[in-house]
Amino acid sequence: MNVLVTGGMGYIGSHTCIQMIEAGMTPVIFDNLYNSKETVLQRIEDVSGSKPEFVNGDVRNKALLIETMKRFNIESVIHFAGLKAVGESVAKPLEYYDNNVNGTLVLVDAMREAGVKSIIFSSSATVYGDPATVPITESFPTSATNPYGHSKLMVEECLTDFQKANPDWSIVLLRYFNPVGSHPTGKLGEDPQGIPNNLMPFVSQVAVGRREFLSVFGSDYPTKDGTGVRDYIHVVDLADGHVVALDKIGKKSGLHIYNLGTGNGYSVLDMVKAFEVASGKRIPYKLVERRPGDIAECWADPSKAQKDLGWKAKRTLEDMTRDSWLWQSNNPDGYPE
Ligand code: NAD
Ligand code: UD1
Repeated sequence: MNVLVTGGMGYIGSHTCIQMIEAGMTPVIFDNLYNSKETVLQRIEDVSGSKPEFVNGDVRNKALLIETMKRFNIESVIHFAGLKAVGESVAKPLEYYDNNVNGTLVLVDAMREAGVKSIIFSSSATVYGDPATVPITESFPTSATNPYGHSKLMVEECLTDFQKANPDWSIVLLRYFNPVGSHPTGKLGEDPQGIPNNLMPFVSQVAVGRREFLSVFGSDYPTKDGTGVRDYIHVVDLADGHVVALDKIGKKSGLHIYNLGTGNGYSVLDMVKAFEVASGKRIPYKLVERRPGDIAECWADPSKAQKDLGWKAKRTLEDMTRDSWLWQSNNPDGYPE
């Protein structure tokens, strides 16, 4: 099956391409390299033995999308392309709405013209806002507090309305919890530009000596040790979730919504300790003020994906921290240019 993977050069997309190739699928990557490097293609080949076709393009370029889908006989699309930094989205809302919302509308319009009726969209647990209780099921109310979160919700709403009007389409919304880790070969991983916003890339960079200490945002949350609790999921488990979704429901018309998480919550200090064990390095940290917009705790009820798709995250916290460290220690400055 030939699948267009927008944003396939990025962190989650590149890992998904490898799992797709291993499952016998053919990814065709469509990415404008805004937040990734072309070296990723070589790494995908090193790991999987196969180099995917790559089109350097922007998802707002409808003509190029149509031409690409026709040229490669695309049957389904996985749509990872988008901007993802919450703080930046507050400073640059127009850019976020244009890239994430407009980009998706152009993509779906191009799919319609090319006759492709199956799409998996990268959504986020951010659409649950500050949940009243945990674990979170797919039927919880949705809300957002920043332009990034709004953009994910808007796309979910647009796709839901579009599917209602076009009942023969298969639209899958996958709500990711906190993806971490890297490929177990240490050849692919997360390579944030500038100062990392997310916890695990920051911790890895402290371990490798690129940063002096971790600031722990908030130690007075109503959690077991006062620090924020999240559902960290190994990026390869997440990637497998896409392969299974494509296989099981990629051709089944309807709107399908799934949480992709483990169902376990770990605190910031749990993650720091686990990373210290995996790396053999001490992670100096300071307890500082809460980060505005953060919530105390968030973890998934992943049972719907298990029941319908037979998918369950398999990898442990030890796997996540070991693989993150392997990637970071082998590639201290990320991917080469
Ligand atoms: P990433 O930045 O590593 O990958 C995104 C890729 O999309 C990059 O290679 C970038 O160059 C490309 N891209 C961006 N805008 C584009 C455009 N207009 N046209 C073509 N390509 C474009 O991010 P990621 O962590 O792999 O995330 C992938 C998706 O998953 C995003 O939509 C993100 O919002 C969503 N998501 C990520 C997380 C997370 O923690 N990483 C959590 C929930 C949801
Ligand atoms: C963040 C985004 C969310 C996005 C998700 C995945 C915010 C407010 N939320 O979620 O919208 O979907 O990333 O990309 O940015 N932490 C520290 N020190 C750090 C970094 C983080 O203590 O330097 C803490 C946070 O307070 C939180 C936990 O670590 O408790 C995880 O943070 P992070 O990795 O940024 O993910 P989220 O906040 O869950």
